[in-house]
Amino acid sequence: MSRSAPQKALTAADIRARKGATPLVCLTAYTTPVARLADAECDVVLVGDSVGMVLHGLPSTLPVTMEMMILHGQAVARGLDRALMVVDMPFASYEEGPAQAFRNAARLMAETGAGAVKLEGGRTMAETIATLVQRGIPVMAHIGLTPQSVNALGGYRVQGKGADADRIRDDARAVAEAGAFSVVLEKVPAALADQITAEIAIPTIGIGASAGCDGQILVIDDMLGLFDAFKPKFVKRYAHLAADAAGAIRAYAEEVRARDFPAPEHVFTDEGKI
Ligand code: KIV
Repeated sequence: MSRSAPQKALTAADIRARKGATPLVCLTAYTTPVARLADAECDVVLVGDSVGMVLHGLPSTLPVTMEMMILHGQAVARGLDRALMVVDMPFASYEEGPAQAFRNAARLMAETGAGAVKLEGGRTMAETIATLVQRGIPVMAHIGLTPQSVNALGGYRVQGKGADADRIRDDARAVAEAGAFSVVLEKVPAALADQITAEIAIPTIGIGASAGCDGQILVIDDMLGLFDAFKPKFVKRYAHLAADAAGAIRAYAEEVRARDFPAPEHVFTDEGKI
């Protein structure tokens, strides 16, 4: 479970101190090998509850459990040396109140070795964030489009348009004042994300927000083109791994059917050599 070199790992305080500096590079990861790849470039690796949709084929993040987050958190921890590991609190693990949130956040930290947790919600979660922070659990907040509230929000819509901007601004102020060390702004208009970034003292991490945020995050399977069930408009594909994998599997199938694979260099001799 434990990280191989925790003493070298970035902390929530290091990330907080990057406000207004070089943009923070953040990605999700759910497995050890992908965490190793992300660790080479990222400041923050998030074990997002997007794992439910991306790896488990679930229709939303709502059915994701504590056990899933712990298992994937432990896998990611084995792949990280430098990046701060943040683990998402799954739906229904914190909304009852500060006591439930502390119990589950402490379990996530203790069983995965994470350096922080992330939870969704603004002003309504301020008391919970303050409780966790005062008891030693760094919190990354997440406002704007909060996917765990997809049913209440009426879909995966942009949040904070027009007069609704005040609500998102108030959420940002509330989580910053409560002690969150950073805040994810998901799917908010760029001008609003820029205003919030200028106003609050903690780093903003944009996803479908603005290049002016203090950092950016994407779901790694989205940017690698590995998850292609659908593509949010804000995602840029830096690779097309699903298409590459489909081509590789097709080539393998054709070679097996034609008895071209395995070739002599892939089979053993009597002496056990290839
Ligand atoms: O679950 C997740 O991957 C997230 C990011 C998209 C911010 O919350």
